[in-house]
Amino acid sequence: MKKLIGLSVLLGSTMLAAGALYAAANDMPDWAYGIPPQGQPPNPPARDDGKMLSVPGSNLQFTFNKIRGRVDNDTPNRTAPADWFPNEHPALPQIVAQGDQSRGIVACSLCHYPNGKGRTENASPAGLPRDYIIRQLHDMKDDMRVSGERRKGNTQQMVSFAKAMTDEEIVQAATYFSSLKWTPWVTVRETNTVPKTRSQGGMMIPLTGDRAGTEPIGERIVEVPVDAVQTETLRNEHSAFIAYVPVGAVAKGKEIVTTGDNGKTIACATCHGDDLNGLGSVPGLAGRLASYNGRQLYDFKVGARHGDMADLMHKVAANLTNEDIIDITAYLASLPAPASVAYTKTAQQ
Ligand code: HEC
Ligand code: HEC
Repeated sequence: MKKLIGLSVLLGSTMLAAGALYAAANDMPDWAYGIPPQGQPPNPPARDDGKMLSVPGSNLQFTFNKIRGRVDNDTPNRTAPADWFPNEHPALPQIVAQGDQSRGIVACSLCHYPNGKGRTENASPAGLPRDYIIRQLHDMKDDMRVSGERRKGNTQQMVSFAKAMTDEEIVQAATYFSSLKWTPWVTVRETNTVPKTRSQGGMMIPLTGDRAGTEPIGERIVEVPVDAVQTETLRNEHSAFIAYVPVGAVAKGKEIVTTGDNGKTIACATCHGDDLNGLGSVPGLAGRLASYNGRQLYDFKVGARHGDMADLMHKVAANLTNEDIIDITAYLASLPAPASVAYTKTAQQ
């Protein structure tokens, strides 16, 4: 009898665990993690053909590999990537400009861009509080911050960079990125129909050629580069993003964010500041990418982010559904960025 009870308790808890996992997986905002659509054919291989490339507004020219900090087609991104607009930001600390090949640290500027504005598949450290950035890198070091989606390889890579960084480099990178202004980076458009997309390393990109077309938006946000060639091929840090969101999402998001939706969550301004541009070491949310914020809300919900301060977000995220996350992040992305004037060398000298 005892054995039987033991067995049923065991089974019960296993089933509960499996059930909980299923529920979480079922409500996961796949769109925010850039999970490839089912049956996506492999992405075309991208290789350097030796041609010099340029972007509007910069008089510099780089090869495809140099843009990525690669020495050749078969070596990973290990050297300083291209900096198209060196006059638009302060001098980059060495760790940001070059990383450190001997410790496997890839230059921060490759993924987050020299201006720190980042891309949908990574993050946007520009204009975040210095102490917040320092805390994130330490949380990653201490295994308190991972991705809620284990297939998201670049977040795991990010964690490995943080683990290899010295305290001094963490402060240097945090000081640099927090000194940059957060300027407009995403346009929100409510729509029923979106371009068909593929996932390129976690970034959604509209299909081209024979495969191009449209499809219903469904229950997701589709956030894509305004110009995929500028963003993906050229890594042009001037080329921004567009978030296609379901009709009505922005208004519903505003309601949740400003009222806490009748106890379902907690109104965000209390901690993130009246205009949601950050408060003390709490990060700004206004005018930032929907897919990034969407992933974070889910990561808090499932406890993948659980540092000291991250725990303040657990109650906020615990009861949010995929639909809530869509509405909230659509509204946040639609808010004005705090600064509309970017850094210029002459202005700050
Ligand atoms: C290979 C691409 C890549 C490189 C290189 C990279 N990062 Fe990241 N970074 C990411 C990804 C991916 C995330 C997390 C996205 C997520 O959690 O969804 C991230 C997140 C972050 C965050 C958290 C931002 C926030 O709002 O909480 C900070 C801070 C950060 N990175 C700093 C750095 C620094 C400093 C370096 C250089 C030492 C660096 N990153 C290099 C990809 C990269
Ligand atoms: C009780 C305080 C509190 C409230 C209320 C709160 N937040 Fe937060 N939030 C925080 C803190 C603190 C952090 C930083 C966590 C850390 O340092 O790891 C954070 C971080 C975040 C992040 C991650 C940002 C990044 O760059 O990675 C998002 C997204 C976010 N909050 C969204 C929201 C939304 C949406 C609401 C309202 C529905 C909200 N928060 C309400 C305290 C709060």
